[in-house]
Parts: sequence; C-alpha cells; structure tokens
Amino acid sequence: MTVRARSSVAARMREIADIGRDPVRGGYSRHLLDDADLALRAWFRGSAADLGLEVEQDGNGNLWAWWGARGPDAVATGSHLDSVPGGGAYDGPLGVVSALEAVAQLQAAGFRPARPVAVVAFAEEEGSRFGLPCLGSRLLVGASDPAAVRARSDPDGITFEQAWRDAGLDPATLGADPARLADLGAFVELHVEQGRDLEDRGMPLSVASAIIPHGRYRLTVDGEGNHAGTTPMAGRRDPVVALAAAILAVRDTARAAGPAARATIGRIQVTPNGTNVIASRVEAWLDIRAAEDDDVRAQLAATIEAAGRAVAAEGCVLTVAEESFSPIVAFDPALTDRIAAVLGGVPAIPTGAGHDAGILAAHVPTAMVFVRNPTGVSHAPGEGARDEDCEAGARALADVLRDLAGD
Ligand code: GLV
Ligand code: MN
Ligand code: MN
Ligand code: MN
Repeated sequence: MTVRARSSVAARMREIADIGRDPVRGGYSRHLLDDADLALRAWFRGSAADLGLEVEQDGNGNLWAWWGARGPDAVATGSHLDSVPGGGAYDGPLGVVSALEAVAQLQAAGFRPARPVAVVAFAEEEGSRFGLPCLGSRLLVGASDPAAVRARSDPDGITFEQAWRDAGLDPATLGADPARLADLGAFVELHVEQGRDLEDRGMPLSVASAIIPHGRYRLTVDGEGNHAGTTPMAGRRDPVVALAAAILAVRDTARAAGPAARATIGRIQVTPNGTNVIASRVEAWLDIRAAEDDDVRAQLAATIEAAGRAVAAEGCVLTVAEESFSPIVAFDPALTDRIAAVLGGVPAIPTGAGHDAGILAAHVPTAMVFVRNPTGVSHAPGEGARDEDCEAGARALADVLRDLAGD
C-alpha cells in the first residue's frame, strides 16, 4: 500500500514521474504494452486498490476501477496513460490521476455514490505504437475490426497480435463490448488543454464543446535505390527528394485551405536508410484536421493531387492509404451544460486534439473538462500545467462526480 501524507494530484503525478522518461527525445515515451505502459498499469492497479476499488482489464486492454459493483447507469471518468514519442507529462495521465484523486476526496468527505463510479485508463489513445488513435476505446465501441487491429504492426515490425500474446493476453477477447458500454450512463474525461486558450482567458478550467475531425494517412513514395557515389544527379529517382517536394505541397495545400486547416508530417521512414544509399522507398505519415469532415476529405484530395504531381516530377510513384478517420464530435450538450454549471459557469471551447471521449460520445453522454496549460505546448516535453490548476481540476471533477453519481 502506498502511504500518502496528503492526497493530491501533484503527489500522484510524482508517483509516476519517473516511469517512461525518454532520455533521447526528452519527455515521456509510454507505448502500449512496453515496460513503461506495464509499470503504469501496475501503478493504476495499486492506486485503485488503495482506494478500495475493484480493478479489471477489459478484453481490449482498457483498465476499469470500480467504486461500487459494476452495473447500469455507471458514471465513468478517466483518460489514458500512454504518450506520443517524447510527449509531455500531462496528456492522458492527468485525467487518470485526477479521477483517482477525485474519488479519494469524495471518499474522505464520506460521499457514498448512488450509482457505480468507474475510473478508466484507455489503451493506446495516441496510436503511437500501432498507428490507430484511441485503439482501446474504438475496439470497445465496435468502431474498429479486431482482425484488422491484430494485423497492425509497430515501427519495429511486431504485429499487434504478437505484442498482445507476448503480454499474456488472448486475442480472442478483442472487440466490441456492448454490455459494458450499455452500463455507462455518462463519461467525463479531464484533460490538460493542448493550446493557450485558457491561459489567454485567464481561467483555470473549461469544458469542451467539440472535437474537430481528423484523418491519418500513410504516404508511400517509391523510387529507385542506387549507389550514392556512382549514380549521376541527372535521372535519379530519389524518393527522399520526391517526399521533400511532397511535404511542401502538403503545407501549401493546408495554407490555401484556410485558417482552420492543419496538415502535418511528423513521422518518416526511409528504406533502407543508409548514408551512402539512394533510398528505394520512403513512407510518411500525414495528419490532416479541419473544421468539418468534408473539409478533411477535400484537403486530402487536394493534397494527393499536389503531392502526386511533385512526386511524379521526380520520377517516383505516390500511393496513399487511410490509417484512420475520426469524424467531428459534438459533446452531449445537456451533460456539458450541467458540468459547466457545476464548475461555476466555465466556457465551452472546441479542441483540435483527439480523445477517447470523442469515441465514447457516439454511444454514451460524454463531456470533457480542460485544465489550463500555461505553455500551450502539447505532444512535446514542454507541455505544462500548474499544480494549483491541477488541484482545482480534481476538485471540480469530484464536484461533477458528486452531482452525477449522487442521489
Ligand atoms: C491525440 O492526442 C491527437 O489529437 O492526435
Ligand atoms: Mn495526445
Ligand atoms: Mn490525450
Ligand atoms: Mn489525444
């Protein structure tokens, strides 16, 4: 049992502060079923057990800690424990830690929930290992085909199925879990804000109104591998050069699409990746976001056309495959208004970042609470949150749970 002098978000965050630090990239690299993820899962189990919660891992790798027996009309709260490569400390863990802290505070105050409360930690929210964001919640709601998920590979070529088996898990348990979903009466995800909106407004907390749509695509550029020293510059079919031109086309297409459009290539893989080798293939992962679903599709079409032209000019061939599409999400207005009122009339703002709450929202009344991020940086080590804002967030979440799970 972990002995805490005084329970707080900061003290709980310190318990996991050394898990999954990335000495090369800085920040944290915590990916599904790696050592850091397994250590965080063990920490979650221990923290939940300290609160007397019953912990179970569902068939899709999501952890659930129940206060009161699992049953209908449950109020769930939580987030994820995994990170992007070299991510910040708060994206994900703050929501899980705050949920545990909120339960601790309610217990200390003698509150007895009238309906079950669950603290949840979803698996692979970032999609950093197997390329599918919100993997655990997508499987839970039946939005992803388990066979397709099992066949996915990580950057080292290890399939999801292999990683799952290596962790002692049974691939047959993957897939939709309608009974669990039907037990959920509400889901509330607390998350660090991933921009500077609250800092600029001078406010510690907000609720989310919506998540903008988001597509992920794999670009493959094929050229001709050859010798760096003996191949003249004229006539080369170098896919690295072709990709460089394509990336400029990606940026220019997004700029032309208007201020809400976003396009990012943040991951590139060169084959065979040798200094004295003209590559034969380059893969790049494209992330597009825009105000509406059709805007993402239109931006993709324009990008493929412009990038295809740039790649063809280098004598190479471009192919594009969709890895995931996350349509626009509007959170439950009644729940969001109710939570905003409990929090003292905080603003409702849309977010450009994806969340498990966005997946749950199509099935369960769902809302989000954001905690101010003074740096406005996220998915990077510079992500920030002040201790006093984190404590305010947990107190707010406790108030929300008292409201939703009370008599
Ligand atoms: C996940 O955090 C995403 O928005 O990419
Ligand atoms: Mn994230
Ligand atoms: Mn997150
Ligand atoms: Mn996210």
